[in-house]
Amino acid sequence: MIPVVVDTRRRPVRDLRLSVTDRCNFRCRYCMPAEIFNREYEFLKRDLLLTFEEIVTLARAFEQLGVEKIRLTGGEPLLRKGIEQLIAMLAGATGCEVTLTTNGSLLARKAEALVSAGLDRVTVSLDSLDDATFMAMNDVGFPVAAVLDGIEVASRAGLPVKVNAVVKRGVNDGGVVDMARHFRGTGHILRFIEYMDVGVTNGWRMDDVVPAAELVRAIDAEFPIEPVAPNYRGEVAKRWRYADGAGEVGFIASVTQPFCATCTRARISAEGMLYTCLFAVKGTDFRKILRSGADKEEIVRTIRRIWEARDDRYSEIRSEATVDLPKIEMSYIGG
Ligand code: GTP
Ligand code: 5AD
Ligand code: SF4
Ligand code: SF4
Repeated sequence: MIPVVVDTRRRPVRDLRLSVTDRCNFRCRYCMPAEIFNREYEFLKRDLLLTFEEIVTLARAFEQLGVEKIRLTGGEPLLRKGIEQLIAMLAGATGCEVTLTTNGSLLARKAEALVSAGLDRVTVSLDSLDDATFMAMNDVGFPVAAVLDGIEVASRAGLPVKVNAVVKRGVNDGGVVDMARHFRGTGHILRFIEYMDVGVTNGWRMDDVVPAAELVRAIDAEFPIEPVAPNYRGEVAKRWRYADGAGEVGFIASVTQPFCATCTRARISAEGMLYTCLFAVKGTDFRKILRSGADKEEIVRTIRRIWEARDDRYSEIRSEATVDLPKIEMSYIGG
């Protein structure tokens, strides 16, 4: 397919990541450290959030420019009131695949309604199968079993499930093989994510990162795996399959093997700021544009102008010097 629009590095726009709230009921230390987010951090007020109608207008404009997949994120997207209604509106108004990344805490309760609304699949974050480790990481004492329950209920309701685990050295790296063992053969695709320097609050250090190559070796030693070709150009996870046929496992190596060259993602914050990179500092205020009465064609033209000027490749130029630059928080932009 010939792209409708490409950026300065010839990358089309294919995925739209929409954050629907900056709030979360977890306080993962690598994302929303409690000492900062429970005190000095100000969450967005309700009237600052894009309305569902505004979100749909943006989604249709992006679809016109080539977007094929919409991913709802947060914070925790299932905390946004009426999320099922938004999913139904997006599924009805666009031909895009509609998917969602969640911490799984409300999934058992909501899965059935999400499927009825038209959600195509779901990605659940789970960093460890060990309760003490997981509770320390989410920092609100949330148990592993409740997330596993959410995964099972979602799967039984008919949603294909992926599981994302962020690996932090000395925190949960010891449980990686256990996680592989648990999810092998279940049909749920487990993906390990290298801990990234998103935002400025998590105190990221390179020493905390476990390179994906090290994880591949550890899993391969227990359960032999072999590489598989990507599903589509620009897929963030490197795919591997178990040699014994127990399914696949993925690695998102954005620190040690950056994938900016094929990055096709646009991100919208819950208040309607468009960012063309996860590590961006500056965005464009589409809430203002929408509320000034712009129609869809005007919005399409504005997005096109921004995308054509896009030059981002943060992960390729990451260095000691870039780590301390101001950046938006993961909980604000949704990963
Ligand atoms: P599918 O391939 O459609 O299943 O989804 P996905 O992998 O694009 O989405 P998901 O939300 O599961 O992304 C996994 C994680 O990869 C994110 O939460 C981020 O941590 C990381 N990630 C995704 N996109 C980017 C990106 O553009 N840049 C960087 N540096 N990291 C990304
Ligand atoms: N590095 C890598 N992944 C992160 N996530 C949140 N913060 C970070 C970080 N600093 C992950 C979450 C979830 C997704 C939205 O992003 O665990 O899977
Ligand atoms: Fe919440 Fe996800 Fe951030 Fe954890 S990583 S605090 S679950 S938004
Ligand atoms: Fe895309 Fe920016 Fe991530 Fe590179 S660092 S893959 S440009 S979002």
